[in-house]
Formats: sequence, structure tokens, C-alpha cells
Amino acid sequence: MERELINKEREKDILRDKERGLSDEEIGKKYNVSFKYIERLITKEKGVNISRLNKKKRIRRFEPENFQEEKTSVWSFKNRGNWATHSGDYRGNWSPYIPRNVILKYSSRGDLVLDYFCGAGTTAIECKLLGRRCIAIDINDKAIELAKENLNFNIPPSLFPDFEVYEPELIVGDARDLSFLKDNSVDLICSHPPYANIIHYTDGKEGDLSFLDVEDYLSEMQKVAKESFRVLKPGKKCAILIGDIRREKYIVPLGFKLIDVYLREGFELYELVIKRQHNCKTTGFWYEKSIKQNFLLLAHEYLAIFEKPLKKEKENEKQTIQNNFKIIPKELKLTPELPEKFETTSVWILPSDDFDKILNSNVLLRYCKGSYLVLDFSINQNKFSGEEIEEYEKLDLLIIKSSFLSGVHVSKDMVEKFLDELRKLVYQKLPFVKDGGYLVVQVRDVRVGRYIEPIAKRVIDTLSEKSLKIKEIVIAVPDVSGYPENDRDFLSIIHQYLLIYEVKR
Ligand SMILES: C[S@@+](CC[C@H](N)C(=O)[O-])C[C@H]1O[C@@H](n2cnc3c(N)ncnc32)[C@H](O)[C@@H]1O
Repeated sequence: MERELINKEREKDILRDKERGLSDEEIGKKYNVSFKYIERLITKEKGVNISRLNKKKRIRRFEPENFQEEKTSVWSFKNRGNWATHSGDYRGNWSPYIPRNVILKYSSRGDLVLDYFCGAGTTAIECKLLGRRCIAIDINDKAIELAKENLNFNIPPSLFPDFEVYEPELIVGDARDLSFLKDNSVDLICSHPPYANIIHYTDGKEGDLSFLDVEDYLSEMQKVAKESFRVLKPGKKCAILIGDIRREKYIVPLGFKLIDVYLREGFELYELVIKRQHNCKTTGFWYEKSIKQNFLLLAHEYLAIFEKPLKKEKENEKQTIQNNFKIIPKELKLTPELPEKFETTSVWILPSDDFDKILNSNVLLRYCKGSYLVLDFSINQNKFSGEEIEEYEKLDLLIIKSSFLSGVHVSKDMVEKFLDELRKLVYQKLPFVKDGGYLVVQVRDVRVGRYIEPIAKRVIDTLSEKSLKIKEIVIAVPDVSGYPENDRDFLSIIHQYLLIYEVKR
């Protein structure tokens, strides 16, 4: 009893200090409590998971400075964006640059935008600033209250004289039930769901999907995807941001799993964007730890942009199978050199001149102490001519590259053939890799016709052997200023993936 009272007093003190503006770090030290404890206490007392309690926001500007729309498949915002009432206070909220890009690319003035995971209202604020109508819902009434506060501003008419401002409709509701919306009535969905059991947004509110673990989470998100498909107009886009998670030592590819959920409802993948995260520590303690314990900090999320296809497009996409080529693995010799600095996060931005060399060196240094073999899938129009090597000493590392995916026009049947050959190759060569060794598959996404073939996702779906544990999903990007402009509406795909599996028998 007495202990309870002491705890209550302490909770009050902590909240008071928080309101006075003390940082989590200072509070942690003063009361010897963890960051998670402070987060839970605030969520319980205030009904929302926010990092600042003494908030009164002065608007300095209504637009980002020097804004340019993204043109490639990798989006990176060093500053999260603090125009209008945007701030990072609502935990796990997204940078306003994301909805701004999505809204500008895939909707027009007066269009109806839906965000069914409203949070503190980032998407709704952008809709108001960009002259779009918006319906935003959240399971948490306190989040909707906060979003209403954040939307309580007037845009000076002199700033945007030539368009109408629409006040967003903010509603308490459940993303799994959009029955208040008619079929084919929404022009754009732009939303940022909770991730399975990572950040909790409420104190355990009924229907809060942030409490569910992976399998339950995905099956509830299936209902959201189904409703999304129903309410969206054909030909329109649905943009969803999602990240992977690490459980124990291995990666759960939640991003690809959620993409699967939406594809199963009938969506096509129009773009697959990598969103870089910048809050990652790449020096000091983390640098040492990352090397010593051999893991990479997750520094990317996926922004999947789906399209609800028009019927005729689906029919057009049927392709005939061609059989006059072979995709064969050829052995490559590498000359590794010590990189200047190890990569320690899941995103490797490497100088374009030495891209392959630095990438290979990083892979070899992290995942190989002894022997390795590198095979590269390339295209051969004639008969099989790759040299077959049957016997190896036991390998530490097997690297499989797929250089044919760059450069040539890749068709749907080439993708299927590649996956088939890859499966066979891995099946054949895996016995040569030591227990505790690694398999690294280097691939890139390709566009086939109008839509993206998410090859990395397809490889992960294909290689389902129990002995292959996903150790890392690395995004590798050549660092060049100014990528070639695309002649169509599509983003240039500039990133590649390294799918790093640990072999555990
Ligand atoms: C990642 S946050 C969204 C943050 C938002 N993009 C922002 O910038 O503020 C996910 C939100 O989903 C809400 N949520 C969880 N389950 C929900 C459900 N079943 N229906 C609607 N909202 C839900 C949570 O309350 C949380 O606010």
C-alpha cells in the first residue's frame, strides 16, 4: 500500500518534470527509470504517446523551404520538417515530407484523401495546406483531439490566393471498418499504420492494432487492405509506410509481408520507395557494438505505393512465355580491399565509382572469415555455357548476384525463370556452406510494364528453407548527384538489396 503511494507520487513528479520541459534523458537519470517507462506513463496518463507535454506551437512558415518533389526510389529527409504545426512530438509519426510528396504526385486540388491511421494529423495538415479534401480517422479519441489542435490554424489568404482551403474531417474510428465511405469514392489513400507490437499508441484501447504481434497484425491489416480496395476509385493510388522488425537476432520482413497483404486484395505495386531514417547512430558506442556483435541498425522503411488497377490494364498485362534465353550463374572473382569505414546501418550509400568494390569488401569483411564463392546470374541467349564447379571446400559465404536485372528489359517470364533458377542454385549449393556461414543474394526491383516486380520480396518468398534465417536486409545505393530523369511518371529505381541469410541447420 505504502509502496503504491510512493509510486503514485513519483509518477506525479515525473509528469510535472516532463511538463516543465525536462528531457527523457534527464528524467531517466533523476528517477532511474527507462525511456519505455516514461513512454508508458505518459500514454496511460494523457491517453496519447507524445514526447513533449508543454507544447504550444508558433507557426514560422506554412511550407517547406526549397521543396522539390522526389524523383527516385530512395527518399531521404535529413530534417523531418517543421513547417505549419508539424513536429516530432507524437511518437512514431511520419515526416510531413512523405505525405506532401505523395499528395502532390498522386492527387489534384479538391480530391478526397483518406488517412485511416491519422495519429496527430500530419497527412490532414498537408491536405489542408495543399487544397485537398481529407478524411482522417484514428482509433484513439485523444489522438483525434490532438490532431484537431494541430489543425487549428488559418492559412493567410495572401499565401495561397488561388485555391480553396478545405478543413479536414477528423473522426474517431477503426481502419478495418470504412462502412461510412461508399465504394470507389476516394481519390488517394495515404497512411502510416502502426508496426506489429513496436510502439504502443494507446494504453491498450480496444482495436489498437499496435498491440498485435506479427500474425494477428497481418490478419487485421488484411481487413484494412480489403476496405482500402473497396473505397478507392479504380486507377487511384494507396500509399502505405511500413518497416521491418528484428526479433531475437533475425529480421522479420514485415514490410514485404504487409505488401503481400495489399497485393492479395487486388492492388498492384506502382512504386516501392525506400525511406531512409536518420535517427540512427553510426559512430561511437553503436559503431563498436555493431561490428562486435555483427548486426546493422535498421535505417530504412518501405513506402509502398499501390494502384487499384483499371480492369483493362490487368487484362493487357498477360504475357506470353518466351523460351529462347537462359539465365545462368557465372563464377566471379573478387579483389576485396579493406573499406575505409564499415557500414553499420541497413542503408549503404556508396560512391558510384567504387560501388561494387566497396559493397563486396563490406560483405566479405562482415560475413566471411575463410572461403567464399561468388556466382552472378547473367543472360545467355544460347545454350548453357557456364562452367560448373561441382566440388568445393566448405564455404563461409556464398554470394549470388543478378547483374542481368540491370540494363536489360526484364519481362515477367524472365523474373519467374530467374526465381526458379535461383531456387535450384541455392538448393544445389547450400550443402557446401558451413553451418553458421552466410548466403548473400544481391538483387534489385524492376518495372515490368506499368508495375513494380518487387524482386527482393519475391526472393524472400522463394527461399523459404528452414535453415536460412534472414540476418539483414541491406539497401545499397550508389551516391551520385543528379540521377537521370525518367521520361514517364515513374520514379527511377536506384536502390539494390543485399539479402543476407545466416545458415543455421
Ligand atoms: C504510426 S501512427 C500514425 C502517425 C501519423 N502518420 C502521424 O504522422 O501522426 C499509427 C496510428 O494508428 C492508430 N491506430 C491503431 N489501430 C487503429 C485502428 N484499428 N484504426 C485506426 N487507427 C488505429 C494509432 O492510434 C496511431 O495513432
